[in-house]
Amino acid sequence: MSQVKEITASSLEAKAFIQEKAAEIREIVGSGVAINALSGGVDSSCVTMLGHKALGDRLKTYFIDNGIMREGEPQQIVAAFKKPGVNVEIIDAQDDFFSALGGITDPEEKREAITQTFYKKVFGNLVKKSGAKYLLQGTILTDIDETVAGIKRQHNVFEQLGIDPQEAFGYKIIEPLVQLRKDGVRKVAQELGLPSSIFNRMPFPGPALSARVIGEATRERIALVRKATSIVEQELASVKAFQYMAILHNDRVTGMRDNKREFGQQIEIRCWDSIDARQARPTQLPFSTLEKLASRIVSEVPGVVSVTYNIATKPPSTMEAV
Ligand code: XMP
Repeated sequence: MSQVKEITASSLEAKAFIQEKAAEIREIVGSGVAINALSGGVDSSCVTMLGHKALGDRLKTYFIDNGIMREGEPQQIVAAFKKPGVNVEIIDAQDDFFSALGGITDPEEKREAITQTFYKKVFGNLVKKSGAKYLLQGTILTDIDETVAGIKRQHNVFEQLGIDPQEAFGYKIIEPLVQLRKDGVRKVAQELGLPSSIFNRMPFPGPALSARVIGEATRERIALVRKATSIVEQELASVKAFQYMAILHNDRVTGMRDNKREFGQQIEIRCWDSIDARQARPTQLPFSTLEKLASRIVSEVPGVVSVTYNIATKPPSTMEAV
């Protein structure tokens, strides 16, 4: 296992880092083509701009519509990258992901199903189609730490698990951000000229909304958590927190609506204060904000009768529930 040397945000020279990494990418790819997947998160956005700077049109950027993203996300991200001149192609892979997720309830099996679908099936095809030999990817040091520590298998970590992507998927992976943590990536993204809506964007996990559905991630359950997510993001937009989210529980509880019993769904809200995602505390939200959230969620998300707020810290909690 190769040792990754951390560059802290405070010691990072963003300009020099960009020059160095762009040169490295050019050297590795040579006269060939590379591809990358843009999810709109700060890591993949940063890698897209870095790759674009290094390779221009020889970097093919795709947005994989896996069916588990948030409301309107594919269209918003493609539009945001039009401005800096990056052409992003949307690939509809919803059926592939939902069929891979069918029947799976175990968190790590869910991550593995997403990894295999993403890297082998969807990317395997795109690599063939584009003639690329390299995939540019925004893995950061925290992804590696948590995978190696056995906390969560991040969907984008291979080498540290003894997996050779060339052997497993047929292409090589370039990871220019691997020495950084989230705060360092934000600095680089800003220096690359990305707008603050991107470099200050709240983190969102690779396994997307399936990391926020406890139990099976079906189309219906994803639709439910997507709706709750929109409400949480609207209501907490002005709160200065590291990350906030809605989680759909697997257990139902007895509720009542219109004087009738309703064995309904439970949504848990989490809102975190953190610097680098390694440790986190729940944000002390005003109770009136929590009440507003609960009232909107039970009336706007069909079948939800219970809304809770997580008050445990990370550790021992983790930020996502799956
Ligand atoms: P946890 O849940 O491990 O999350 O405390 C820490 C940070 O990482 C994000 N996260 C992920 N990101 N793939 C990702 O790309 C994943 O599998 C994954 N799991 C969690 C999470 O949103 C938080 O910001």
